Amino acid sequence: MRSSEFFLYLSSFVPAALGLAPSGPWDAFNYAPKSKTVYPAAIREVEGTVTNSDRLVNNAGSATLSGQGSWVTLDFGVEVGGLISLNFDSVAPASSLALSFTESPSFIRPTASDDSSTPDASTTYDRVLPISAPLATGYWMQPAFSLRGGFRFLTIVSTAAGPVTLSNVSCAISFMPHVDDLRAYTGYFSAPDQGFHDEDFLTKIWMAGAYTVQTNTVPLNTGRQIPVQPVGHWANNATLGIAGPIIVDGAKRDRAVWPGDMGIAVPTQFVSTNDLLPTRNALATMFSKINPTTGALPESGPPLSQLGSDTYHCWTLVGTHNYYLYSGDLEWVQTIWANYTKAVAFLEAKVDPKVGLMNVTGLRDWARVGGGGFNAEGNAILYRVLTTSASLASAMSLPALAAAWTANATALKTNFNTAFWDASQGLYTDNATTTLAPQDANSFAVLFNLTTSPAQAAAVSAGLEKNWNALGAVAPELPDTISPFIGGFELQAHFVAGNASRAMDLLHREWGYMLYTNLSVESTLLEGFTGNGSISYRSNHGYNFDPAYTSHAHGWSSGPTSALTIYVLGLSVTAPQGAEWLLSPSLAGLPRAEGGFETALGWFGAKWSVATNGSTTTFTANVTVPAGTKGVFVVPPELRGASRGVSVTVDGKKAATAADSSVTVSVGTHTVVVVARD
Ligand SMILES: *[C@@H]1O[C@H](CO)[C@@H](O)[C@H](O)[C@H]1NC(C)=O
Ligand SMILES: *[C@@H]1O[C@H](CO)[C@@H](O)[C@H](O)[C@H]1NC(C)=O
Ligand SMILES: *[C@@H]1O[C@H](CO)[C@@H](O)[C@H](O)[C@H]1NC(C)=O
Ligand SMILES: *[C@@H]1O[C@H](CO)[C@@H](O)[C@H](O)[C@H]1NC(C)=O
Ligand SMILES: *[C@@H]1O[C@H](CO)[C@@H](O)[C@H](O)[C@H]1NC(C)=O
Ligand SMILES: *[C@@H]1O[C@H](CO)[C@@H](O)[C@H](O)[C@H]1NC(C)=O
Ligand SMILES: *[C@@H]1O[C@H](CO)[C@@H](O)[C@H](O)[C@H]1NC(C)=O
Ligand SMILES: *[C@@H]1O[C@H](CO)[C@@H](O)[C@H](O)[C@H]1NC(C)=O
Ligand SMILES: *[C@@H]1O[C@H](CO)[C@@H](O)[C@H](O)[C@H]1NC(C)=O
Ligand SMILES: *[C@@H]1O[C@H](CO)[C@@H](O)[C@H](O)[C@H]1NC(C)=O
Ligand SMILES: *[C@@H]1O[C@H](CO)[C@@H](O)[C@H](O)[C@H]1NC(C)=O
Ligand SMILES: *[C@@H]1O[C@H](CO)[C@@H](O)[C@H](O)[C@H]1NC(C)=O
Repeated sequence: MRSSEFFLYLSSFVPAALGLAPSGPWDAFNYAPKSKTVYPAAIREVEGTVTNSDRLVNNAGSATLSGQGSWVTLDFGVEVGGLISLNFDSVAPASSLALSFTESPSFIRPTASDDSSTPDASTTYDRVLPISAPLATGYWMQPAFSLRGGFRFLTIVSTAAGPVTLSNVSCAISFMPHVDDLRAYTGYFSAPDQGFHDEDFLTKIWMAGAYTVQTNTVPLNTGRQIPVQPVGHWANNATLGIAGPIIVDGAKRDRAVWPGDMGIAVPTQFVSTNDLLPTRNALATMFSKINPTTGALPESGPPLSQLGSDTYHCWTLVGTHNYYLYSGDLEWVQTIWANYTKAVAFLEAKVDPKVGLMNVTGLRDWARVGGGGFNAEGNAILYRVLTTSASLASAMSLPALAAAWTANATALKTNFNTAFWDASQGLYTDNATTTLAPQDANSFAVLFNLTTSPAQAAAVSAGLEKNWNALGAVAPELPDTISPFIGGFELQAHFVAGNASRAMDLLHREWGYMLYTNLSVESTLLEGFTGNGSISYRSNHGYNFDPAYTSHAHGWSSGPTSALTIYVLGLSVTAPQGAEWLLSPSLAGLPRAEGGFETALGWFGAKWSVATNGSTTTFTANVTVPAGTKGVFVVPPELRGASRGVSVTVDGKKAATAADSSVTVSVGTHTVVVVARD
């Protein structure tokens, strides 16, 4: 017999100063540089004759490179991106330099950067940026076209007899051009990860996701040039859309708008910086590029402008709903509404009237194999399109359209379960003619509520775990690959299915590996990796056996940031700007958690702790929300189902608990007490 008691205190809105998250110990784990001019933090390597190299650290003085082939590698300590500048204090007539850049320390080389222009098996396609003779004394700045969007290590190479004396080496950060203080977050999350080798891991991974998305938020005219530059060159001076700043997929590359990636990156952005303008600019760009005849949206933004992806077409539509939910910007939704409805109609026209499923013919996707025909992943995302479109149609005061989309969503859900549910595996298959049960469709099915019961969602959660190895979830639909993009959806699916402990296990394996591996940058998050942890992501599936091409700062890998806020802290918005909100924490084996975020309405914060005394568990939560909002509290899944019942008290008064363990709370100051008895 066990008795559980849990308490919830709700207090009225206390405005946060300057719209920022409260400061606290978590600030020590913020990876964003304190200044937009960043100096090297350490010397990583020296070869040949380099005197006083240490003086290049933190702008302490001058160093001299002598002789052809001497080089020094500077370590900025974290991922950075932008333009290098330095001062030439003295230069011999026969002197020249070259710069090489890399994210992974595996590609520190005096002759080549890591790759960004194109994947090439040589791993040396980009080569170096030459600073040609004759060098002139004084200040030098890297030309804008040669901007390097993501790197941690800079190697300065003497390419002639020299000597060259230089000082004041720094990087002018180019990302987040519209924000002065990169550390001015509007959200935070903190919880002690007891039992893991680093108790600060959860706070760090939340911050790493936030910083990753910042490095992907770039000025309009700093996109990677297409067509691909000739060997030995790169150029990041392409125009990325119709307005900037704009959110792209990665810091180093592709530096283009990718709506699928935004399915993870934008929730991160919302809970960490609430900096939604780059998202609106990216979505507006996609709608402006709709095919006027067919209604097809491009797969990626310009200049890449990939076409032919039904799933990424869906993601632009899903992303529109996310943007509206976070911002409440209905005025903007009105401006794209004609193109939005055309884009939904494009998908609905692919639904076979006899089968009631979309025939996926735009096969490009996140890198997975297969995916065509009556495919589970595409139809799962279509379901999300229809349910979120119905909600947008309601906001647009179009109830008949909302009802029609809802009806089609309901029919699709039934057809999806009939076609793809494999009871023997307890998972959905990729299509009706395979037993392959993909990570993407199964994660989406739980997350988007294509499952028809909690038991079915629990089965999928358990089934997905079978794909794991020590470093994360290996995707059946992309062999030998751990995709932290799809992994971010799987992570959420385990929480939604009610198994936070399984979610935490995946978080520790997959994101623990990414944050600590010395193959990466230990500050921002990798695009993907192989089953054994090598960075040869997509080697034989598009990346031409080039591990130097992999991005180490990809917003699509930042799933834990929003997941920790939404499912562990438990706080999320269910109506635009949080006019309605949800507090649905998971204990996740933690003794306490705190955090919150800002919307246009104000600060949403929560702080909870849990203590056990014999058979009694006491859960206490305080929440601070803006005046005029209303919320629902849901009893943590770990504390439900006590045999002698669960009771919840608000302000000392017993509150009615719905069958789903939820309690509706009005604004004001409240104390909520929950008692469960076995
Ligand atoms: C981008 O830079 C390349 C290389 O310097 C140059 O050839 C090209 O004209 C530039 N394009 C734009 C749009 O500035
Ligand atoms: C050192 O570099 C910084 C950053 O680019 C620049 O603002 C400053 O003027 C440089 N100092 C000198 C003495 O040139
Ligand atoms: C809507 O699509 C048309 C092409 O059909 C395009 O010209 C127009 O700019 C788009 N409107 C918006 C607001 O993006
Ligand atoms: C069905 O799915 C399997 C596994 O993903 C794939 O190999 C096959 O090509 C798919 N079939 C069709 C018709 O797309
Ligand atoms: C899907 O559409 C394509 C192109 O129209 C067609 O060739 C294919 O047979 C269709 N697939 C199914 C399963 O109907
Ligand atoms: C609903 O589905 C039917 C049948 O596929 C289709 O004809 C109709 O256009 C859809 N309705 C909307 C509003 O998309
Ligand atoms: C999920 O779908 C079921 C019907 O299958 C519905 O009863 C339930 O309310 C839905 N859950 C959410 C969170 O929308
Ligand atoms: C949650 O997942 C773990 C495995 O990770 C399993 O042992 C446990 O039984 C699951 N809990 C529930 C409530 O399903
Ligand atoms: C990276 O870590 C591995 C072990 O995890 C170690 O053997 C190796 O020396 C480290 N490399 C560097 C460059 O620190
Ligand atoms: C890791 O996997 C990659 C890709 O499958 C392979 O090329 C590499 O040899 C493996 N490395 C080790 C150390 O096993
Ligand atoms: C909630 O607020 C009360 C009153 O300020 C405080 O005593 C308690 O420690 C808080 N609980 C948590 C978990 O922060
Ligand atoms: C734990 O429960 C026992 C029995 O109800 C009680 O006497 C004791 O004070 C409790 N301890 C704490 C720390 O609350």
